[in-house]
Amino acid sequence: MRLWQDPQFVFGVATSAFQIEGAVDIDGKVESIWDTFCRRDGAIADAGDGRVACEHYRRWEQDFDLIASLGVDAYRFSIAWPRIISDVDGRVNQQGLMFYRQLLEGLAERGVKAYVTLYHWDLPQFLQDQGGWLNRDTALAFRHYAQVAASELGDLVQSWCTLNEPWCSAVLGHWFGVHAPGIQDRAAALQAAHHLLLAHGMALDALRKNAPQAQHGIVLNLSPYYSAAETPGDQAAAEFAALENNHWYLQALLQGRYPQKVWDYYDRFRPAICPGDMEIISQPLDYLGINYYSCQRVLACEPTDVDWPPYKVQEPASNVPVTAMGWEICPSGLTDLLQQLHREYRLPPLLITENGMASDDQLFDGAVVDDQRLTYLQQHLSALERAMESGVNVRGYFAWSLMDNFEWAEGYRKRFGLVYVDYDSQERTLKRSGQWLQQRLLERKQRGVV
Ligand code: FCB
Repeated sequence: MRLWQDPQFVFGVATSAFQIEGAVDIDGKVESIWDTFCRRDGAIADAGDGRVACEHYRRWEQDFDLIASLGVDAYRFSIAWPRIISDVDGRVNQQGLMFYRQLLEGLAERGVKAYVTLYHWDLPQFLQDQGGWLNRDTALAFRHYAQVAASELGDLVQSWCTLNEPWCSAVLGHWFGVHAPGIQDRAAALQAAHHLLLAHGMALDALRKNAPQAQHGIVLNLSPYYSAAETPGDQAAAEFAALENNHWYLQALLQGRYPQKVWDYYDRFRPAICPGDMEIISQPLDYLGINYYSCQRVLACEPTDVDWPPYKVQEPASNVPVTAMGWEICPSGLTDLLQQLHREYRLPPLLITENGMASDDQLFDGAVVDDQRLTYLQQHLSALERAMESGVNVRGYFAWSLMDNFEWAEGYRKRFGLVYVDYDSQERTLKRSGQWLQQRLLERKQRGVV
């Protein structure tokens, strides 16, 4: 297997700040939109919130020992913007910086590379109060935050990511309303998406200036869109869905434009764009991160409302294997997606920055036998390898997630970890899938690959 034999290939595990840290009002941290959103009735399936989470803020040393024991090369995590910047004037919170400096030093001591995301959805509430991602100034505020983070912490970071999954922030947060800030407005979603991408471009520039030795990129959630049936209508619908959900972001970042068909279709909801924005958005990337979980199957449909697109995503059929999230398990979709991107774009090197599944894990006699996840990981790594063998340049793979954590609107019910977290005792138990990865990484070391 080439993937396991390549000394340059980076294996890692991933988390994000709000999902694991807890300590939401400690050491000068101000509120984020997720703190606020969690208080909304019915917003979170189990009425959970981020106040305790995995208590990583206190237990990070133990968690880092666990990461080191896995034998991974890298750890992808995010910085909470509201720990670093305290108000609309951009005041810097030294205690927040100290916390992340401690984390970065802890990783360095353990020989684990730091892959740091600046924005994994936890916008400071004080910026939301000024309009959040609907306000162009939020992009400027993000640039300031990126500049502070890079100049204060940049000596210890190997790889920076501006945004995690801007599609989710824009669409789930501003159109479907199921994520913070919980707005339901098609036009708002497109405007938010544009300002997010603009923020990415502005931050990229700040990162390059303040941390020139590191790698800089962005992370998108992408899926292949298949037509549910081989009818011309469904095929056209699948193409449109891919344009709207994948290529809107890819074309903007890699080609400096938005897909014409989608632009025309949503003529009532077009975002306001200033001259020069698309150039800022489409600066060269050192890498593109892809989060891959599943594929989508699409049916043509007459939109019921002018806000809605001309397609519907089909629920997986009852004979199709799905995860505890109800997402189809579709490893071949990863190969297809990567090959499609490779054909259609001049790509920077790629990273798989998230991949994994939720399952109903049970801790029994001190063990968690999550064979379904183990198989999922094996199948997706093989699918990745197939894409690489056909010429796609992928430089790393990060499992989502290091440990069970706060799964956004699903609360704590959906477990994605390689490590099981008992939320009463905060005890961590390495699941069988984690033991498998650990074993493979150990063998790789023993063979002298790394
Ligand atoms: C991704 C998010 C990540 C996690 C996984 C399951 O969309 O980036 O935080 O919730 O899904």
